[in-house]
Amino acid sequence: MSASLDRRDFARLFTLGGAAALLGHPGARHLAAAGTLRRPLRHGHTVDWDAVRSRFLLPPELSVLNAANLCPSPRDVLLSVSEDTERLDRDPVPTFRDEMHGVKEDTRALVAGHLKVAPENVLITRNTSEANNWVSGGLDLGAGDEVLIFSDNHPSNNQAWKAKGERFGYTVREVPQVNPHPGMEYYVDAFRRALTPRTRVLAFTHLTNTAGDLFPAAELCRMARDAGVVTLVDGAQSFGLMDVDLSEMDPDFYSGSAHKWPCGPKETGVLYVNPRVQDRFWPSLYSAYTGRSGLARTHEGMGQRDEPAIRAFGREIVFLGSIGQGAIEARSRELADAAVEGLGQIPGVHLWTSTDPALRVAVVSFRPAELDPRRVLEALEAEGIVATARPGDDRGGIRFSPHFYNSFHDVERAVEAIGRYVRQGL
Ligand SMILES: Cc1ncc(COP(=O)(O)O)c(C=O)c1O
Repeated sequence: MSASLDRRDFARLFTLGGAAALLGHPGARHLAAAGTLRRPLRHGHTVDWDAVRSRFLLPPELSVLNAANLCPSPRDVLLSVSEDTERLDRDPVPTFRDEMHGVKEDTRALVAGHLKVAPENVLITRNTSEANNWVSGGLDLGAGDEVLIFSDNHPSNNQAWKAKGERFGYTVREVPQVNPHPGMEYYVDAFRRALTPRTRVLAFTHLTNTAGDLFPAAELCRMARDAGVVTLVDGAQSFGLMDVDLSEMDPDFYSGSAHKWPCGPKETGVLYVNPRVQDRFWPSLYSAYTGRSGLARTHEGMGQRDEPAIRAFGREIVFLGSIGQGAIEARSRELADAAVEGLGQIPGVHLWTSTDPALRVAVVSFRPAELDPRRVLEALEAEGIVATARPGDDRGGIRFSPHFYNSFHDVERAVEAIGRYVRQGL
């Protein structure tokens, strides 16, 4: 922790009305006076989800079901970023600059604790894309080597592996997705059969952003480890949504973004690097202002960074912890269950996401009958409902991704709107 705030202060910050209240921001006093910031988030084991929602700026009439894309940050996090940014410009004295250089270590400790690994093995990146690319650019791979990927991985994974494969002469092979999700066993078996003596890396996605398929991450990592293959688990859709325990999953690399499900500031992210691969992992960048501990001393020299955002990332992790990541996952799952159930009852709607709760979490994709997804998206926005459209022939349609700031009302009105569009046309 930095000199000015210890861990208890951080916790207090988020239970008593946020960073700004503690720091005396006039805007925060106004909001606190309105009573919204001081409402406790929990009563014993019960979370007050309305109080959670009130920590966000989202107006009540807007239903934002788009967590898989970009999440809003709570007001406290926004104020934290603006307070520190303002102070850096108003009072950029060496002691404050030095304090801000140190905030990476606070955030590293908080993120590491959240993912249940040691801070020495955590790098603070700008996002999942950068983290994935650090992996594909940081391993010694060449002619004769093979990288195994999953066809539904994000381009920051698949496009990067393919382009670097062309450049450095290694081969990339792909395990194709199957829809609907054919089950965990199917994929463990499919990846096992695709491994060859030349396979060096297995790169897959914990929860896909396309169909919302959940992957058996721990089993796949174990299988790869037994075969001497390095694993990259893309956690962009699981970090901040699921109660991820990396000590149990035991990947070699795990990547995530703060601005998705964790609701942290934009352009902050994480890369976990297992100690057993650190001697084979080259830095992608060399510059000043490296981290001050562990792997970050060699691998996090990125020059001047947005330290106010990095500090706020840590504070957001405290906020998640004050609610409980398990409770957040359970809440998001319940909201997604309601969406799957409601959408499943609309004649003509086809769910790309599995109806089996064991094979999904809170990313729900569907084809809205024969309607054009882009027009559906526009109609939803006109009603104050935010989603994502996936045009195209490959499981095209609409994606709802509800999160802990949503209510069942948000999901119900979104499902009702889809039913109406399908019945009446657009
Ligand atoms: C699975 C997955 N990986 C990586 C990314 C890239 O995330 P970012 O834009 O935060 O780098 C995304 C974005 O949607 C994603 O869904």
